[in-house]
Amino acid sequence: MKNLRLDKYLADMGIGTRSEIKEIIKKGQVSVNGESVKRPEFKVDPEMDIVTLNGKKIAYAKFSYYMLNKPAGYVSATEDEIHKTVLDILEVPQKKDFFPVGRLDIDTEGLLLITNDGALAHKLLSPKKHVKKTYFAKIRGRVDDTDVTRMKAGLDIGEKKPTLPAELVILTSDEISEICLTITEGKFHQVKRMFEAVGKEVLYLKRLSMGTLSLDDTLKPGQYRPLSEKEISDLKGNSDVRA
Ligand code: URA
Repeated sequence: MKNLRLDKYLADMGIGTRSEIKEIIKKGQVSVNGESVKRPEFKVDPEMDIVTLNGKKIAYAKFSYYMLNKPAGYVSATEDEIHKTVLDILEVPQKKDFFPVGRLDIDTEGLLLITNDGALAHKLLSPKKHVKKTYFAKIRGRVDDTDVTRMKAGLDIGEKKPTLPAELVILTSDEISEICLTITEGKFHQVKRMFEAVGKEVLYLKRLSMGTLSLDDTLKPGQYRPLSEKEISDLKGNSDVRA
């Protein structure tokens, strides 16, 4: 990794705005390898140098990862002329490089990974990787074993090929049914179109997991938290691909 100006290093780690950081540095509150440095333009090697602020070590992490419980009403995009985006929810430093990994419809809730790590996003979204995504849904109509069989066999949803085998678990079957569906693709409106193909309508949709990452059920819609080290390494190592 290339060397960074000291003020950029601290701004990337969310210490404050560039002008606040310049002040902090000029006041002598920042040290590099034990020596006080008063020049914001001083170059640091993020992999080797030890930067401290008032004696507290500020480690440099190139990438950040947040799990958001996406609320309905927000689009999964970095900008939008009409609607609020999921990035508007995130109050974190340096979010200009962040993006949501994949798209949930405006009315869909649940797990959305937001990061600036393009390589991991590519790995999770690549159609070749068949990363599993599990959704909870409320469906108008009685979902039954025929639907389980048809979703397992693959459905014509108007694409060139039928959908890949999907696992449908019926939680309750009534005028409004509750189900979990696991798919290994990410076609536009896929879950809604799969239910349409069996003559049923999705009334509510929430993503519960993506690869090894599961939605933290303590997060209410609109809440988010950084991923743990384990969650990050699990996602990078093995994204629970289809056997
Ligand atoms: N399938 C859908 O239909 N909508 C989503 O938001 C995600 C999967």
